[in-house]
Amino acid sequence: MSTAISPTAYNYKVVRQFAIMTVVWGILGMGMGVFIASQLVWPELNLGLPWTSFGRLRPLHTNLVIFAFGGCALFSTSYYVVQRTCQTRLISDTLAAFTFWGWQAVIVAAGITLPLGLTSSKEYAELEWPIDILIAIVWVTYAVVFFGTIVKRKTKHIYVGNWFYGAFILVTAMLHIVNNLEIPVGWFKSYSIYAGATDAMVQWWYGHNAVGFFLTTGFLGMMYYFVPKQAERPVYSYRLSIVHFWALITLYIWAGPHHLHYTALPDWAQSLGMVMSLILLAPSWGGMINGMMTLSGAWHKLRTDPILRFLVVSLAFYGMSTFEGPMMAIKTVNSLSHYTDWTIGHVHAGALGWVAMISIGALYHMIPKVFGRQQMHSIGLINAHFWLATIGTVLYIASMWVNGITQGLMWRAVNADGTLTYSFVEALQASHPGFMVRALGGFFFAFGMLLMAYNTFRTVRGYVPAEADAAAQIPAVGAH
Ligand code: HEM
Ligand code: HEM
Repeated sequence: MSTAISPTAYNYKVVRQFAIMTVVWGILGMGMGVFIASQLVWPELNLGLPWTSFGRLRPLHTNLVIFAFGGCALFSTSYYVVQRTCQTRLISDTLAAFTFWGWQAVIVAAGITLPLGLTSSKEYAELEWPIDILIAIVWVTYAVVFFGTIVKRKTKHIYVGNWFYGAFILVTAMLHIVNNLEIPVGWFKSYSIYAGATDAMVQWWYGHNAVGFFLTTGFLGMMYYFVPKQAERPVYSYRLSIVHFWALITLYIWAGPHHLHYTALPDWAQSLGMVMSLILLAPSWGGMINGMMTLSGAWHKLRTDPILRFLVVSLAFYGMSTFEGPMMAIKTVNSLSHYTDWTIGHVHAGALGWVAMISIGALYHMIPKVFGRQQMHSIGLINAHFWLATIGTVLYIASMWVNGITQGLMWRAVNADGTLTYSFVEALQASHPGFMVRALGGFFFAFGMLLMAYNTFRTVRGYVPAEADAAAQIPAVGAH
């Protein structure tokens, strides 16, 4: 990679590094997903070892896909978008490089500690305190690079995509720091400063907003840049995008208690979470419609452009999961869905259909540009990837709906004398076919990522850093 980059060019080096690692972590994280999905079909795959047991590899999967794959996609695209829309180079190459190496160190530390069983036991915040501190330092540096670049921008206006990325960066810092306040009792063991119902409330305030700001707001920033770019149309309604932004960030923060229905949490807090979740449907769909309608007059492009297909189908899955979520937040519905595979299906409708597909579409748009190429090596392979991802997602979520509703109904069925109609094992047996279909769907999705890796390799192979940087020249005046 080039070391002598002209200061009149964008810093694409860090964008390239994060983009490549997105593909690498995507394969490993989803490969791990297929492995743990297979363990649920064939328990022998636990291999009788503590390090390879489902309980330890499951958090490794979630950390790899959310923070490694999703995180690298967000770093990569946000650095690309903020430079191009502000028409200026990142404020500091050194700090940007630190965020890259620091973030990779966090992921490697997760890869070592989680299989060893070192965990703080908080979902999506499992990493122990020394790693938490490193995350906080990297994240604050990220905020300095991102907002510093906005401050030195050459444009008058701050493009809406940057508002979404900015909110994601700020709120993630706040969530991470508040939820991980803990008392260390050794290098790899700590206790949360919160206890009981308060601990649960703080954890799900964090957990839900990790979904809202990490898995949603950041990716909406991506959507607002890459959908108009790939469709070659302006955002359908810029005014709606601003309303969307403020409504979304105002509402999301209140919805966390829907993860704690029928628990020791005060009833009013549960009801508040439910109502806020229902209202959240409106801004979510407003954003989805804004993205979709950006294609007005460009729908015909879907016939020939598989990258646009990735982006549009991701919006459809976003719409679907943000309809399903508010429904599951209704207490009576949640009494059926909670603890079942329905939740897992909902998670992956968002994770595979929305988060992964929008990232993949954005990367296919961006990778040739930051490596000084005209386009990806093979459009046919992108198309094959698109179908594998779409079919994989549908198999995953449909099987989990069937399993989830079956489990919920079997668990609550009672005989006339009040005893349970089915034992737990009977419900598990009924779930087995669904587990097989889910593993197959996951395999399809992960296989598509291998095609992406090959296509990326062929696209960037032998690239000349000087040529890539020539394409990165900042225009004196002009569009983003
Ligand atoms: C090939 C693709 C994937 C497969 C096969 C897969 C499989 C799995 C499996 C088997 C579980 C455990 C389910 C259980 O405990 O019953 C799981 C959990 C989870 N996965 Fe994935 N996954 C994939 C991709 C992803 C991606 C891309 C993301 C995020 C961007 C993701 C996020 C999650 C989350 C958040 C959970 C925990 C859900 C919960 O606790 O409710 N997964 N996954
Ligand atoms: C309006 C939007 C949404 C609402 C109101 C919502 C609501 C819900 C509800 C009620 C649950 C089940 C809680 C439980 O029974 O334990 C849930 C779980 C979950 N949702 Fe959503 N959801 C929304 C959108 C999304 C999106 C777009 C994603 C992913 C990108 C997502 C990811 C998750 C995850 C990871 C969980 C599992 C958390 C866990 O138990 O580990 N949600 N959501």
